[in-house]
Amino acid sequence: MEILRSVAELRAWSRAQRGAGRSVGLVPTMGALHAGHASLIRAAASGCDAVVVSIFVNPTQFGPNEDFGRYPRTFEADCLLAEAEGADVVFAPSVEELYPGGAATFVEVEGLSSRLDGASRPGHFRGVATVVAKLFIAAEPDRAFFGQKDAAQVAVLRQMTGDLLLPVEIVVCPIVREGDGLALSSRNIYLGAEERAQALVLSRAVREVEALVGSGERRADMLLDAVRGIFSEVPEVRVDYIALVDWGTLLPAEVAAAGTLFAVAAWVGATRLIDNAILR
Ligand code: PAJ
Repeated sequence: MEILRSVAELRAWSRAQRGAGRSVGLVPTMGALHAGHASLIRAAASGCDAVVVSIFVNPTQFGPNEDFGRYPRTFEADCLLAEAEGADVVFAPSVEELYPGGAATFVEVEGLSSRLDGASRPGHFRGVATVVAKLFIAAEPDRAFFGQKDAAQVAVLRQMTGDLLLPVEIVVCPIVREGDGLALSSRNIYLGAEERAQALVLSRAVREVEALVGSGERRADMLLDAVRGIFSEVPEVRVDYIALVDWGTLLPAEVAAAGTLFAVAAWVGATRLIDNAILR
C-alpha cells in the first residue's frame, strides 16, 4: 500500500486507475481508525476497483474550544488497518497541502449547516463541506463512502455534492457498534469507566425509538418524550439535542415516516457523543 502526501500524486494515481478502466472509491477519515472506519473501507473495496483512504485531521471543522490539538493521532496503526481492509493508497496530506497559504475559499451549505450538530458547533459543517469538496476535487472518485453514524454530515455532503454538480456517488454505510450498543467513535477513548457506562444512554434511546416505531407509535412528541424520560434516568449526561427530522432537510418531522432520522447528541463529561437511527 502506498502513502501519498501531495494532491498532485493523488490525482495522478486516480487518473491512472480510471485510465486503466478501474473505478475509484474514496473513504475520507480523520484517522484514529476503528471498526466503523474499517467497514467503510471494506465496502469501498468490494464496490470499487481501487480504494484511497484519506487521513487528515481537518482544522477548519473544529471550533476554537474543541479538541483539534488533542484529537487522537495513530497514523502507523491506521495504515496497517487500511491496508488489511483493502485500501490501495492512503492519502495523508499536510494542512499546508490542503489549505495552501492564504486559502480563502470555503463551501457553505446554507440552512443544513446550522441544524443539529451545526447548531451547537458553528462553522463545523462549513469545514466538513470544504475539506470534502477538496478531497473530491483532488481524488476524483467515482464513489465516496460515509457512515450513517454522522447522519447530519451525510445530509450536508449530499446537498453539497448535488449543488456543486460533483460527479461522485455518495454511499452511506450502517453504524458499527460495540457489543453493548455504544456506537464506535474515535472520541470514545476520552471516556472514563463511569462515563463509558453512562454513554450507553444514547444507544438505549435509539433502540427505544426503533422499538416504539416498530410497535406503531409515529408521533414525534410521543417518541421524543419517551427519549427524554430515558435521559432523565442518567442526569450526569447533558443532552445537546434530541430530534426527529427529515434526513434530507434536517427540519423537524411531526411524524416518523420511512426514512425519517431520529438523532441524538449529548455530553458525557467533556465528551460530546452522537447516535441515530433511520426509521423504517
Ligand atoms: P471521522 O470522524 O474520522 O469519520 C470518518 C467516517 O467514518 C465518517 O463517514 C463517519 O461517519 C464514519 N464512522 C465513524 N464512526 C462510525 C461507526 N461507528 N460506524 C460507521 N461509520 C462510522 O467524519 C469525519 O471523520 C470527518 O468529518 C470527514 C468526513 C473525514 C471530513 O473531515
